[in-house]
Amino acid sequence: MKIRKAIIPAAGLGTRVLPASKSMPKEMLPIVDKPAIQYIVEECVAAGITEILIITGRGKNIIEDHFDYSIELENHLKNKGKTEMLTQVQHVAELANIQYIRQKKTLGLGHAVLCAKSFVGNEPFAVLYGDDVIIGDKPAIGELAEAYEQYGLGVCGVKKVAEKDISKYSSLKVELIKEHIFKVSDMIEKPGPDEVLSLYSILGRCVLPPKIFDILENTKPGAGGEIQLTDAMKELTYKESMIAVEYSGKRYDMGNKFGIMQAACEVALQHPEIKDDFKEYIKSLAASL
Ligand code: UTP
Repeated sequence: MKIRKAIIPAAGLGTRVLPASKSMPKEMLPIVDKPAIQYIVEECVAAGITEILIITGRGKNIIEDHFDYSIELENHLKNKGKTEMLTQVQHVAELANIQYIRQKKTLGLGHAVLCAKSFVGNEPFAVLYGDDVIIGDKPAIGELAEAYEQYGLGVCGVKKVAEKDISKYSSLKVELIKEHIFKVSDMIEKPGPDEVLSLYSILGRCVLPPKIFDILENTKPGAGGEIQLTDAMKELTYKESMIAVEYSGKRYDMGNKFGIMQAACEVALQHPEIKDDFKEYIKSLAASL
């Protein structure tokens, strides 16, 4: 079944990037000149998914403003004859059909996904974590959607993480089906040293069947006292197994300081307006270290 709907949970408190995220949602932090969440919406659109629900919370209103028209700004650009910039600004408002819902209490990613139950209805849907930007030739969520269509099972997007970092993520028990595609038989969120199942971790993307909502309604708080999406996916895995896709793009974690800097540097080195100057700058900086 074709994936038509996506949800982007963006209600988290972003405590790892305070104080930047105190009044600015971390999902709105720019990578050079575009907020993180715009990359994510564009990834959906590139995969043919244009029905999008963004889960927001208190203090996140500027996400809605960003994807709306900005009449005063547009009139200004029109009057100044800045047509290219005008087109860019209007394009953001026309990218997709975006709706919003508030998660009133930040009870965890699993709870945020549950807030999307009535938007999703009875069809499979995509989840794109609002602070995980993936840049590549193919939209990562499209790679997962293809696997869902092929196998008819829930799909999670995975990458291998360094051994020293696995305790911060999830860990999956996987068996290779074919290149970059695995069958999942178990998973654990934030494993202790004796609980690591593999270094494959769910990073930022999944495609889920609607039965996940019944599971989420009964999922108790897990790691960190939060209702974890991984715990619900584990239950789904036990019921009917899941597929893992090692997506081809590069993932940037906009929820931590190092990820934000990696994204900024790597995108700046490709950016048509600044790449030459920035490359020179990086070279001279590196030489002075
Ligand atoms: P994270 O766990 O990375 O976000 O969730 P967080 O809770 O903001 O992180 P820290 O630890 O405080 O820095 C991944 C995605 O899920 C959203 C976040 O906004 C992020 O985009 N999320 C998380 C929600 O929408 N609601 C929640 O209750 C938790």
